[in-house]
Amino acid sequence: MSSQKTILLTGCAGFIGSNFVPYFLEKYPEYHLINLDLLTYAGNLKNLMEVEESSHYTFIQGNICDRELIEKLFDKYAIQGVIHFAAESHVDNSIKNPGVFIETNVNGTFVLIDVAYKKWMEKPFLYKKGYEKCRFHHISTDEVYGTLGEEGLFTESTPYAPNSPYSASKAGSDMIIRSYFHTYGMNTIITNCSNNYGPKQHDEKLIPTIIRNALEGKAIPIYGDGKNIRDWLYVLDHCTGIDMAYHRGRVGEVYNIGGRNERNNNYIAKKVCEILDILVPKNVSYTKQINYVEDRAGHDRRYAIDASKIEDELGWSAAENFETGIVKTIEWYLGKYNCHITKKYESEINL
Ligand code: NAD
Ligand code: TYD
Repeated sequence: MSSQKTILLTGCAGFIGSNFVPYFLEKYPEYHLINLDLLTYAGNLKNLMEVEESSHYTFIQGNICDRELIEKLFDKYAIQGVIHFAAESHVDNSIKNPGVFIETNVNGTFVLIDVAYKKWMEKPFLYKKGYEKCRFHHISTDEVYGTLGEEGLFTESTPYAPNSPYSASKAGSDMIIRSYFHTYGMNTIITNCSNNYGPKQHDEKLIPTIIRNALEGKAIPIYGDGKNIRDWLYVLDHCTGIDMAYHRGRVGEVYNIGGRNERNNNYIAKKVCEILDILVPKNVSYTKQINYVEDRAGHDRRYAIDASKIEDELGWSAAENFETGIVKTIEWYLGKYNCHITKKYESEINL
């Protein structure tokens, strides 16, 4: 095997992966990163323009369900680690069209880990010579734990209770990874993260929808009463958590990642509008565009993560809170939508 370590990343033309690749490439110049992405509607190579010239980065368009392709990639590049981001990721789409979620998230994850097992290991609990350090890191979500009432936090031992086809498919994929650790002794890690936000997120998600509709003068759709709570984490904080878990997490363990930033959707919509009122003011506040619409079917009420395990064991902590991360995020989207910032946002302005 070559001395340069080659890691297979999946789904990195999407939101989190495309934030992860530049971060990881810069931090670990000794790695060669292969990004396998099907380029579904959610993948966009423009997200990766900053790394496309790097000799340590290779893009391959393909499907994680395609066993023949995955086997060829393992052989050609002597893959020594996998960080698996690829998924169908939007709950609303999973309500309309659940089949592709099962196909990609469950079957795709199975194909990837099963090929990794056969390429890396002789038999259960015995790695092939030279492959002893190969690790499979599965990126998952806090949504597998279901929904919380007003109190309590998800820990790594919270029973799984997924409520949407999306979270059910992610729960299924987590269980497959778990079984490869227990049955075959594979070196696996699962991280379950809360809602991410930041640059490069697809337009369909809540925060890009608020920003885009606000700027286009359209209604900002808030489902139900807007009191659903998510634990919002700036995407680069997720990336540092993945990095730490991949390199230092204990074999077979699960780590929850979350920023202790619970906010409800009403707060998010109002905050984004108020920041836009400062950066790109118009004669009426953007908050006037907030519009309550029919609730999402089966809409989970509250997600919140107890991140003590990754904080205590690996020394991870979130660098941003929602109020700092959201300003960076909005500024990035204003650039994307070619919007001129009229006035700089001053953090001391008390909104
Ligand atoms: P995303 O939808 O923005 O990107 C998904 C990427 O996967 C896209 O580039 C898409 O082209 C690719 N893809 C989809 N199907 C594929 C297939 N069959 N083969 C190869 N590539 C395929 O998703 P994201 O928000 O970046 O999420 C990445 C991972 O993180 C997912 O596993 C998701 O479940 C998990 N996660 C996301 C969040 C969040 O808030 N976004 C939070 C926790 C966990
Ligand atoms: P979303 O970004 O789809 O993430 P998830 O469903 O995975 O948590 O939605 C975040 C929250 O925002 C969720 O409570 C649903 C709500 N939401 C709206 O109120 N309006 C919207 O247009 C969207 C996309 C989401």
